[in-house]
Amino acid sequence: MKMEALPSVKGDYNLGDYENTYKHFDWSEVEKEFTWSKTGKVNLAYEAIDRHAESFRKNKVALYYKDENRAEKYTFKELKEWSNKAANVIKEYGNIEKGDRVFIFMPRSPELYFAVLGAIKTGAIVGPLFEAFMEGAVRDRLTDSGAKVLITTQALISRVPVDELPDLKHIFLVGENIEETETQYDFMKKVAEADKNCSIEWVDRNDGAILHYTSGSTGNPKGVLHVHNAMIQHYQTAKWVLDLQEEDVYWCTADPGWVTGTSYGIFGPWLTGTSNVVVGGRFKPEFWYKTIEDYGVTVWYSAPTAFRMLMGAGDEAVKQYDLRSLRHVLSVGEPLNPEVVRWGMKVFNRRIHDTWWMTETGAQLICNYPSMLIKPGSMGKPIPGVEAAIIDDQGNVLPPNRMGNLAIKKGWPAMMHTIWNNEQKYESYFMPGDWYVSGDSAYMDEEGYFWFQGRVDDVIMTSGERVGPFEVESKLVEHPAIAEAGVIGKPDPVRGEIIKAFIALRDGYEPTQELIEEIRTFVKQGLAAHAAPREIEFREKLPKTRSGKIMRRVLKAWELNLPTGDLSSMED
Ligand code: PRX
Repeated sequence: MKMEALPSVKGDYNLGDYENTYKHFDWSEVEKEFTWSKTGKVNLAYEAIDRHAESFRKNKVALYYKDENRAEKYTFKELKEWSNKAANVIKEYGNIEKGDRVFIFMPRSPELYFAVLGAIKTGAIVGPLFEAFMEGAVRDRLTDSGAKVLITTQALISRVPVDELPDLKHIFLVGENIEETETQYDFMKKVAEADKNCSIEWVDRNDGAILHYTSGSTGNPKGVLHVHNAMIQHYQTAKWVLDLQEEDVYWCTADPGWVTGTSYGIFGPWLTGTSNVVVGGRFKPEFWYKTIEDYGVTVWYSAPTAFRMLMGAGDEAVKQYDLRSLRHVLSVGEPLNPEVVRWGMKVFNRRIHDTWWMTETGAQLICNYPSMLIKPGSMGKPIPGVEAAIIDDQGNVLPPNRMGNLAIKKGWPAMMHTIWNNEQKYESYFMPGDWYVSGDSAYMDEEGYFWFQGRVDDVIMTSGERVGPFEVESKLVEHPAIAEAGVIGKPDPVRGEIIKAFIALRDGYEPTQELIEEIRTFVKQGLAAHAAPREIEFREKLPKTRSGKIMRRVLKAWELNLPTGDLSSMED
């Protein structure tokens, strides 16, 4: 499939020539931007906030926060003080030492950002959890990480199985009328009383900062550890790819429970001293457009599912708002359909720039660099400082237009440091030749543009969220009616994929609509709403290998009416 290139709009960007930068760029140049190149003392939160609070940006708005009930703003100076206070509280009452895991489980709110920055200032590793997680998902992550401190809300604490978490020693709650005990504290009350100065814990550039759990096709979710050094790439890509400039008002729609919400919802914008908009609450087209109008958002980073939902809300909705402030629009997380790019041209008069990266990569790698021509449907080209290739299963680099494994040469600054408690899993990402193998299949055209083709494994991307089929299957078979379950991603025009479960029932159970609803609720309450199968199909038996593994590829072939391929490993 070949697409016409859209011209770049000259004068819109301050980034200059891609080809030339690609040839000459070296990451070590970027270190000079940070205080630690002179002091040797590193802390990501210091570089993101305090550095600006001590500069001409002191009274510049760092955070605009808005939901249906609140609208607040904080300058860099104020954010420095709030995060200092949070750091003092977390350190004192949480008894934190460098490297301890502090988990943060709450909806987007200013307090969430105080907590993340504060915890990083203490030298802790921060694990942000998406607010929609239910008990099982919370338990898995807190157990695996050995979290010592949890900061959550009164509404969410009921989903935390405290008694089953021996490592968890201290809990901070955000809410009203909180009863304090020896291990449970009213977070904002303590923060209000705390000193606004704090002594930051300086760490090594390769010390842990953020732990994001993500799903693969097998096993439990795994903890992807990112270190302070990643700031080099967060900063540089915020300049190059987001094109953030001094006067910009930037809005990233992702939740910090996912990597986009930290790398580009916290670090990218603040490392570059940019005013950052955070919107809480659920997705509502009108509220989103109004946010752009109210704050005069200039740079906007969102995801294909969100764009498709906005598209679905109709062009009339767009016309009621003044969106002319938008200068640069970007997308991540799923394939961006050419149709959506064209819609963006029509309604925003802006090209939507696709960017490709993953939780494991920590920052953007393959992008539509702003000054580059866009080929709708392509993810763009590797950014300067990053080498990408298509390789075969033996690690040989393939020529243009051949489909294979999308791989990146090891060593970009934001690359994950390890998989928590699982060095073997970490090693398994790499192939000889120092290639990091992404798990995506793609091809590169003659001009060096990369085109996403799909996942190599069974990982499901639904509404931009990454769901491991194993996690859902494990939850399903806990249900008393279910003997076996196999879960696949089924293509969907709005959500990219939806989760479809094939289920074999135990004897004595009937496949009724009621049971379908019950099973869905069971997964919703046990894992998270986005992990619940939207479609359930009952079968007498599921296709399995002789060793008893459900053959998802056969389920997928059934679903899509495709040939089932080689069935020699199947039982019967
Ligand atoms: O399959 C690719 C898809 O999202 C996966 C990574 O998911 P996650 O770790 O949750 O991170 C998402 C946000 C950084 C990838 O392996 N993906 C990401 N970006 C794109 C994409 N698929 C197509 N086009 C993209 N631009």
